[in-house]
Amino acid sequence: MEKLKKPIRKAVFPVAGLGTRFLPATKASPKEMLPIVDKPLIQYAAEEAIAAGIEQLIFVTSGSKRAIEDHFDKNQELEDELERRGKYDLLAMTRHIVPAGVSCIYIRQPVALGLGHAVLCAKPVVGDEPFAVILADDLIDGEERSCLAQMINVYEKQQCSVLGVEEVAQEETDKYGIVKSESLYEGLSRISSIIEKPAPDKAPSNLAVVGRYLLTANIFKHLEKTQRGAGGEIQLTDAIADLLKEEQVLAYKFKGTRYDCGSKLGYLIATIDYALQHPNLRDAFKTHLAGICAKRVKG
Ligand code: UTP
Repeated sequence: MEKLKKPIRKAVFPVAGLGTRFLPATKASPKEMLPIVDKPLIQYAAEEAIAAGIEQLIFVTSGSKRAIEDHFDKNQELEDELERRGKYDLLAMTRHIVPAGVSCIYIRQPVALGLGHAVLCAKPVVGDEPFAVILADDLIDGEERSCLAQMINVYEKQQCSVLGVEEVAQEETDKYGIVKSESLYEGLSRISSIIEKPAPDKAPSNLAVVGRYLLTANIFKHLEKTQRGAGGEIQLTDAIADLLKEEQVLAYKFKGTRYDCGSKLGYLIATIDYALQHPNLRDAFKTHLAGICAKRVKG
């Protein structure tokens, strides 16, 4: 039995998917580098992890994802040029994408066999510690605290795996892992079963797992045995279903707004919402949007 009471210091970012819903944009560059206003999705995810106290960022990458490594690496030529031009704000922003004390580790997933397989690829680095999994294409704007920080707070009290969940429209259950759970108290429930992408009429509820997981290292022994499931992929959901048989797994309804940036509509909505919050853009952008809306209503 794994020793609990270990803090969560490591986060796995599976970024080896093919991003087919965004082709042709994702033919040669990673979906996770798509920007929301001026910051790539993967940086929002890394910042969420760092703000929650994560010290090791573990990226599970593939051949066409080199831009992610470059993004978190030093760019001396750019720094020299920004310094020469006296652009010190931009220089600081570029230099401190990864703060001191946080390290980045990259592992390849040789073939995109599914999210479960991508997480299993991180086993040699995660070892026997509990860890976070963050899917960067689920961008979450936490209310007062980031989603991962809220979940770690739950983990610290409960010392077990915790999945971030939200209610989705019944007709959308076939896009998510769906849980059946018994409420413990407001926002927190104990999962009794989990199923990947059930048809709306077969779904046990409309409580969907989004791209945030805190998992005990026991998940790896289940992932090692997991066969291909929905969509012919090795599903993390199926391994969690096995984990449930031997230890408690909780579902936590986070406070905040999730944007499904893996889909074009979700990506556009996130772009608009974040632009409307951006200190240098919001006024001009609001005026522009109001103009468009007025024209459309008249037309
Ligand atoms: P998605 O299914 O949402 O992403 O996987 P995708 O496969 O990249 O995109 P589409 O559906 O073809 O448009 C969820 C997450 O799991 C990662 C993806 O990078 C994404 O962050 N993933 C998926 C892997 O790392 N490896 C895989 O084999 C599959």
